[in-house]
Amino acid sequence: MTIPPAPSTHPDAGWWRQAAVYQIYPRSFSDANGDGMGDLPGVTARMGYLAALGIDAVWLSPFYPSALADGGYDVDDYRNVDPRLGTLADFDAMVAAAHDAGIRVIVDVVPNHSSNRHEWFKAALASAPGSPERARYHFLDGLGRHGELPPSDWPSHFGGAAWTRVVEQAGPNAGRPGQWYLHLFATEQPDFNWDHPEVREDFHTTLRFWADRGVDGFRVDVAHGLAKDMTLPLRSKKVLDILVDDGSDPLFDRDEVHEIFAGWRDVLNEYDPPKAAVAEAWVPFTSRRLKYARPTELGQAFNFDLLQAPFDAAGFRAIAEKCLVEAEASGASSTWVFSNHDVVRHASRYSLPDGSTLEDLAAWLLAGGATPPTDRERGLRRARAATLFMLGLPGSAYLYQGEELGLFEVADLPEASLQDPTWFRTQHSVKGRDGCRVPLPWLSDAADFGFGGSPWLPQPDWFAGHAADVQDGVEGSTLEMYRAALGWRRKLQAEESLQWLDAAAPAVVHYRRPNGWEVLSNFGGAPAMVPSGVDLSKVVLSSGEPARGAIPGETTLWLAP
Ligand code: GLC
Repeated sequence: MTIPPAPSTHPDAGWWRQAAVYQIYPRSFSDANGDGMGDLPGVTARMGYLAALGIDAVWLSPFYPSALADGGYDVDDYRNVDPRLGTLADFDAMVAAAHDAGIRVIVDVVPNHSSNRHEWFKAALASAPGSPERARYHFLDGLGRHGELPPSDWPSHFGGAAWTRVVEQAGPNAGRPGQWYLHLFATEQPDFNWDHPEVREDFHTTLRFWADRGVDGFRVDVAHGLAKDMTLPLRSKKVLDILVDDGSDPLFDRDEVHEIFAGWRDVLNEYDPPKAAVAEAWVPFTSRRLKYARPTELGQAFNFDLLQAPFDAAGFRAIAEKCLVEAEASGASSTWVFSNHDVVRHASRYSLPDGSTLEDLAAWLLAGGATPPTDRERGLRRARAATLFMLGLPGSAYLYQGEELGLFEVADLPEASLQDPTWFRTQHSVKGRDGCRVPLPWLSDAADFGFGGSPWLPQPDWFAGHAADVQDGVEGSTLEMYRAALGWRRKLQAEESLQWLDAAAPAVVHYRRPNGWEVLSNFGGAPAMVPSGVDLSKVVLSSGEPARGAIPGETTLWLAP
């Protein structure tokens, strides 16, 4: 293969910079073989729907062989397809169908950890302490007189300790409790040792494997976690998601991680156009997060700032402004996200009483969505307004399957059906993420709402009112709003910049793209005055009521030039 000079001059090299990317959670999207689990042929069968939606790319969450201890983010084999979801031939057929429909394909790479069924981990368990097989993971002796205490106080993201002790299978201690291995997530997800050259090389092989099969990009799971400070004695860290902004955390966002991704960029640039990549890095500091997104690394990093913010004019504007300025400075384009497979759907988040905190949200989920009472109509109205606010911004928009149907979180799943490891590892005190992963409703009055088989998570009755078929062609439906918005976005897509305009009311945010495309969002509940100079006859889209002399409450308007 000849290596083209980077950066590429290929006309499609920057396709991702302002793309609308639709996340598919494959188990829950569409089930072609009727076994109750969505699959790759199910995705292929829905390509017409995806094309009509007007997205530029799909991102598929993991479809690799897995025991599903963490919904597929526990990967047994990085270069294969879970037989329940299809075959490599099905994967190729899906990519071909997507490309024929003008849709690019992004796949998920999970480099922080494998599953405990990965052949390397099985070999590590079968080998003695100190063996080369153990060196690809983090195995350590325990503390205490007999090694009975974990090597550090590190917690797992899903609750409980991040260390599990093994019973040795080889060596002088065979048959007895021995070393501990690190898993920042579930017990079934042992963390790789990224100082090991074979680990590094193997992921390059995986990137090339999928790139050679035609994928256009990669979503990089827990990108900020690969480099760890394992110097003994290990430093204390009792709360994983509190970070400092200087790279000194022992587990996350360490400066050494960037060398790994510079190596990945070299691999991605072996292709022309170069393959795209987006980091999942829950790093709260914009400038540090954007290091993952530099052109010499992955190109983009998910920006969860809007997702974590309350629905508020000043807050949304401040976030958008800061992220755009910093993205430009780093050479990346910004990303925007409101929902994904890890968080409560935004139509539900916005339906909680104003001022609700993350703790309130968790309590609401634990209460099965019963208390406090929510205002769903308002939640959906705000979600739609927020979505149009986001879709007008420069940068890439990442959409999560089902948000185009206006789905809410299924907060009252029967406890017996829950699968998220969080629920089990917290002794049923944190609900977990199953409620946003319920299989999609396609047809309102078919069995399983047209999903294809009896779904692995039960669908609520209210899904009938959200099914794709009852929204199709219906003016004002959420599906038609997304279609119209994505259609206009394609037509209006302009240079990656905008101008903030003074709005007449504090609840209103107003911006204009260089070609004259204008976005007006009213975050307040009451109708707001139209800023002077705005010509309402140019409105082509409203997230809510039509604009009659004012901007309706909790509504975004788009004006075409
Ligand atoms: C990421 C994924 C999440 C998964 C975790 C561990 O945050 O988005 O679903 O549980 O990584 O792989």
